[in-house]
Amino acid sequence: MPPPLLRKRPDMTINDRDEEARAILRANDRGGYTVPNGRVYPFQWNWDSAFVALGFDTFDRNRAWQELETLLGAQWENGFLPHIVFWQDDPGYFPGPAVWGTGRTPVTSGITQPPVAATVVRKLWDSAEAAGDGGAYRPRLAALFPKLLAWHRWFRDFRDPEQRGVVVAMHPWETGRDNSPEWDAPGEPIDISNVGDYVRRDTSHLDAKMRPTKLEYDRYLALVQFGRATGWDHGRISRKNPFRVADIGMSMILLRANRDLAVLARVLGDESAAAELDDLIERAERGISWLWDDKTGTWCSRDLVTGRHSGFITSTSFLSFYAGLADPARDAATLAHFDRIGASVPYLMPSLDPADPGFQMIRYWRGPVWAVVNYMIGTGLTEAGETDRGERVRGDTRTLIERNGLYEAFSPVDGTGSGGDDFSWTSAIWLAWARQPRS
Ligand code: DGY
Repeated sequence: MPPPLLRKRPDMTINDRDEEARAILRANDRGGYTVPNGRVYPFQWNWDSAFVALGFDTFDRNRAWQELETLLGAQWENGFLPHIVFWQDDPGYFPGPAVWGTGRTPVTSGITQPPVAATVVRKLWDSAEAAGDGGAYRPRLAALFPKLLAWHRWFRDFRDPEQRGVVVAMHPWETGRDNSPEWDAPGEPIDISNVGDYVRRDTSHLDAKMRPTKLEYDRYLALVQFGRATGWDHGRISRKNPFRVADIGMSMILLRANRDLAVLARVLGDESAAAELDDLIERAERGISWLWDDKTGTWCSRDLVTGRHSGFITSTSFLSFYAGLADPARDAATLAHFDRIGASVPYLMPSLDPADPGFQMIRYWRGPVWAVVNYMIGTGLTEAGETDRGERVRGDTRTLIERNGLYEAFSPVDGTGSGGDDFSWTSAIWLAWARQPRS
């Protein structure tokens, strides 16, 4: 745990916050991997670890690489990279390893998470090179590369059943945006009649007002039971799962990750892998149009089963710049939503449009701001030349953390923190990106 006195002091400086962020990463380090938060999430989570590596890279390069090496150490033979690795059991979390029943060593869950890892590895590589450490880290890059490529191929083979160039999520947890309203309608047909009794642990650590509802949890568990009944046969799941939604967030993130992996392929001189990735990029650039909703003028998720767009404007609607997409008409419509939302709340980017009747400022993924999503939105905008808007997102992230602490998420209305106040990925994003003064 970070020193409590440091957290409570009203006169905290930026350097104090840096020190606190590093202390949180060290405290949540379980030796080779970092837990998102010791109480609520006591295992290794896939995309959390990737973002965490960016934070470690600001003060301990070796440890940053190790975070991803440990994660990829849990990869299955078919390339699948699980969303949770249960390196050691902990009764404080539900559903634990016994519920997943994947029968793997190490024990893992049976679903994946947004593939940010390749983009992070590219960042780590660029940072090692810039520091003159390229020679020492090249063998580690060469060892990670085929594993990342295998994971990206797994997405092609098992998460894009219609071969559209998008990512089809088989579980809301897979998207990382557990209870986004984007999953409400697609979740309705899930049969929850056989879920049975269970005891949630999240609501004994956190206020239930922040967390997903019982109905959402019933659906989460029904989907785990479905996957388990197939013996975690990803082919069967991709054809028959009761929840199959092309997720705008994962689709944008994978497109970006494929671009970064193609750069790394060329760094390593692997032209054949680079060409394969170029094909995937081209397919995604074409296919992702399927996720543009003309009616709302936004990027959003789409149910593969019904073909319906969600119609929701969420923080992931703004990831097109991060994905490297450029389309004048769509960009203008997206930026108009950005400016409208920016004028309606003090802190960007709410996870749901505040104009939506379902907006709730502290309920997970129905309102709060996540620093990691802001990092992707902000860097994407800045890379696309939208520097003022990119800086607005970064500056808001900085203010939220500076004034409120290193929480999991924050209210876009008044900055109230939700989730734990010693969150690893918020600490990492603070150190790697948010902390610089407003320009
Ligand atoms: C949880 O348990 O809340 C997680 O988000 C699932 O990955």
